[in-house]
Amino acid sequence: MKGVFITGTSTEVGKTFVAVGIAKALTKRNITVIPRKPIESGCVKQDGELIPQDASALKEAAQYEGPLSEVCPYRFEPPISPVRAAHLANRILTTEQLVNICLNGSEKGFVLVEGAGGFYSPLAENGLNADLAVALQLPVLLVADDRLGALSQVLLNIEAIQMRGLQLAGVVLNSLSDEQSDHMDNTADLRERLDCPVFSNPYSKDGSTRLPEALIEGLISSTATSDSHIRIVG
Ligand SMILES: Nc1ncnc2c1ncn2[C@@H]1O[C@H](COP(=O)(O)OP(=O)(O)O)[C@@H](O)[C@H]1O
Ligand SMILES: [Mg+2]
Repeated sequence: MKGVFITGTSTEVGKTFVAVGIAKALTKRNITVIPRKPIESGCVKQDGELIPQDASALKEAAQYEGPLSEVCPYRFEPPISPVRAAHLANRILTTEQLVNICLNGSEKGFVLVEGAGGFYSPLAENGLNADLAVALQLPVLLVADDRLGALSQVLLNIEAIQMRGLQLAGVVLNSLSDEQSDHMDNTADLRERLDCPVFSNPYSKDGSTRLPEALIEGLISSTATSDSHIRIVG
């Protein structure tokens, strides 16, 4: 299966923002994108239907022709952990159910999966985001908020991703504001310590996404991931 699993160091770090950028860039290259956000909490009720915001953004960016229910069938209203939200709705969802949503139609194109929360956030009754990534065997792209403290968060996540034998598509250091410390350079510091590609994505005032070409090319070829391993220096 061709695709990528988008995870993050936490929630609200830019996973959807980056995933939307990837979907747009691939679609522009005439690559069919199969967007999947199998479970989403914090959905908004409209005309009696729960609308998943992330899944809707992914569907639009991918110009996906299938129904939103294929992108995200498991939707919950409270903006809390998806597993807890499912419990409140008297639902129990398993990793296998989420895997099936991601596999359905996966032969038709590039499968773009966004998890929920961070790599070790629970996603189903019996599994974390990490377990869905392992079941799908997709390369993982880690999105991190490019701020002070990001280095440790990224290195911990990379170790967890590699401990599970997953390929690493790279790290995106995403700026959530335009107020950056003059002397900070997380991208350079991580490049010194990691063999995988490390990209920086600037803050976008108008909300438009333009990701580095090398990131898109790496995802398409998937070769950027093959020999990545952690190399922590000092
Ligand atoms: N590089 C960026 N420039 C401008 N706004 C961004 C950027 N990255 C994320 N955002 C905004 O920050 C918020 C959180 O990002 P989002 O992608 O929803 O995070 P996540 O999917 O990890 O929860 C959103 O409002 C998003 O539009
Ligand atoms: Mg999101």
